[in-house]
Amino acid sequence: MIVVTGATGTIGRALIGSLGGEDVVAVVRRPADLGCRYVLGDFDRPETIARVLSPGDRLFLNSSLWPGFTGAHRAVIDLAREAGVAHVVTVSVRGAAPGRPLGGGMHGDVDAHLRASGLPWSVLQPVGFMQNLLAEVRDGHFHGSYGPGPVGYIDARDVAAVAAALLTRPVAEAGGDHVLTGPDARTHEEIAAAISAVLRRPVAYVDLPVPAMAAHLAGQGMPADAAHRLAALMAEVGDGRWATTTTTVEDITGRPPRSLTRFLAEHATAFLP
Ligand SMILES: NC(=O)c1ccc[n+]([C@@H]2O[C@H](COP(=O)([O-])OP(=O)(O)OC[C@H]3O[C@@H](n4cnc5c(N)ncnc54)[C@H](OP(=O)(O)O)[C@@H]3O)[C@@H](O)[C@H]2O)c1
Repeated sequence: MIVVTGATGTIGRALIGSLGGEDVVAVVRRPADLGCRYVLGDFDRPETIARVLSPGDRLFLNSSLWPGFTGAHRAVIDLAREAGVAHVVTVSVRGAAPGRPLGGGMHGDVDAHLRASGLPWSVLQPVGFMQNLLAEVRDGHFHGSYGPGPVGYIDARDVAAVAAALLTRPVAEAGGDHVLTGPDARTHEEIAAAISAVLRRPVAYVDLPVPAMAAHLAGQGMPADAAHRLAALMAEVGDGRWATTTTTVEDITGRPPRSLTRFLAEHATAFLP
């Protein structure tokens, strides 16, 4: 059986769609129409996820980030080992490592715990998702502190496609760290131009120094400390560390990752005010 956590999320829904024909159970906090069997479970109570697990199961371990993320994911990993799970596939982020700011550090801790667990594991390390743009573009603008550094954004559906491939192949062929990117890296000004071309109206990228970006995020309701760290992280990403792309999506799934142009064309109506 394949047990999918984070099943109602962007990756989870696409993953379940890719696992047709497999024996799949989704772990959800509330009843959800996902096209597969589901059980109720919550990372805040790791035992509610563990009770779903049986020897030989494969576990897709994913949720959004919250303050209890690291402890809860580590607890589920421990319980998965006790249950005799055959393979854990988890979603991390490119460059994750213990001590890194925000999600990079949380994921780094969980990834390290998983690698040391004795369980067969795969850690997916995607860059930023193209889907983020849907929320970020407002009133013909989107803001960041990336400077001129290109980023090879990935369509989250390709993260799901990689997960589906790894969860359905022999563990011996599937383990390890997998850095996932889209097919090409573009500056945020180039991304704005691509969005403008698809929407046929001007969309501008506004690059802000870190303090101004932090104030912008705080103005949207983000706590000041988190806003500053996120803005600083954007500036780091913009230093070129996410400028390279990998062939991992194609290596694992047998087809190239979706391009930004394709993503934008498919989601053009979602950008409308
Ligand atoms: N966005 C990016 O650019 C990006 C880039 C690299 C890596 N990532 C990583 O991708 C992951 C997020 O994946 P996603 O975008 O598919 O997530 P998402 O769309 O935000 O959905 C999050 C999922 O996690 C579930 N969840 C949250 N808290 C939970 C809890 N306490 N117990 C049980 N389920 C819980 C949610 O369930 P409900 O429906 O009940 O809320 C939902 O199914 C994160 O680890 C993030 O760091 C994101």
